[in-house]
Amino acid sequence: GGRTFSGVKPTGHLTLGNHLGAVRGWAERDQYRTESLFCVVDLHALTVEHDPARVRRLSRQAATVLLAAGLDPERCTLFVQSHVDEHTRLSYLLECTATDGELRRMVQYKEKGARARAAGEGVRLSLLTYPVLMAADILAYETDEVPVGEDQTQHVELTRDLAVRFNQRYGHTFTVPRATRPPVAARVRDLQDPGSKMGKSGAEAGPGVVFVLDEPDVVRRKVMRAVTDSGTEVRYDRAAGPGVANLLEVLAACTGGEPAALASSYSSYGALKRDVAEAVVELLRPLRARHAELAADPGHVDQVLREGAERARAVARQVVDRAYRAVGLLPRG
Ligand code: TYM
Repeated sequence: GGRTFSGVKPTGHLTLGNHLGAVRGWAERDQYRTESLFCVVDLHALTVEHDPARVRRLSRQAATVLLAAGLDPERCTLFVQSHVDEHTRLSYLLECTATDGELRRMVQYKEKGARARAAGEGVRLSLLTYPVLMAADILAYETDEVPVGEDQTQHVELTRDLAVRFNQRYGHTFTVPRATRPPVAARVRDLQDPGSKMGKSGAEAGPGVVFVLDEPDVVRRKVMRAVTDSGTEVRYDRAAGPGVANLLEVLAACTGGEPAALASSYSSYGALKRDVAEAVVELLRPLRARHAELAADPGHVDQVLREGAERARAVARQVVDRAYRAVGLLPRG
């Protein structure tokens, strides 16, 4: 039972981190267990410098990859955020609920804001209000569960705070959601820089990032060149050996084992890397094949998105109208 909502931002090609941290669980678990909505959150892609044509291309590509990963339009609702006006309508009410202090404390705002400042760009106001729009995405659907990677936990916590605060002020309006995360690989690290997460956009997306649509040989090369630790023993120790721990977590996620148990079956980094590379290649093989088929028929993807937006709108409109009444806005009559 219950309802699931989650989303992905079209700021770059989807990565192995997106897949293991979120998308795979949506496809393999959530859409079967709960009433599920998945969203390509295109408005969120406008919070940093962007190229309009690229955002458009990446939005359709993200939707195509999600279908290729196994989202079934018969079982879940897949849509694009900007096609459902309720998200921005609700975001404003939540801007009237959140404080600037709690938004300035968000880790991603601090990091991305600092990066924009260092590049001599202005920090878009929407970068600060981003988590409020994200809260609106979630609360507009009376969501119970938000399956996300570890990096989104703070945003879901804020969403909970806003829901509780709004309900206390104006009467029960929103379901208070909770974040869920995969048992392993909730934070896949960059293969070249295991101190940071594997990210899809901007300066983050270097040779340490595996994209789900990478050719098998590209995946193999990136994994074989992964930075490991200075020792030689294969041990699962996130603090002392984050590079090796990351490889073990990816392997565990692909094969269903436990990182620590897997470690004991390897006596060299080379053997571990070879197995990780093959496991990732096999994991992504069906996704790439299905993507190639779907990409040949963009009309089908557009149709799925059109129907998805209609279904999403029907749910969100009721919740958001209720919130508008609750805060004292005069009904449209
Ligand atoms: P985004 O597009 O950065 O990432 C999409 C999902 O992938 C997860 N993820 C990872 N998981 C493990 N390891 C990694 N290296 C990794 N990188 C990304 C993210 O945690 C996320 O679950 N703000 C969100 C998008 C969003 C959203 C929402 C999500 C907007 N509104 C409402 C849930 C509900 C984001 O930027 O995700």
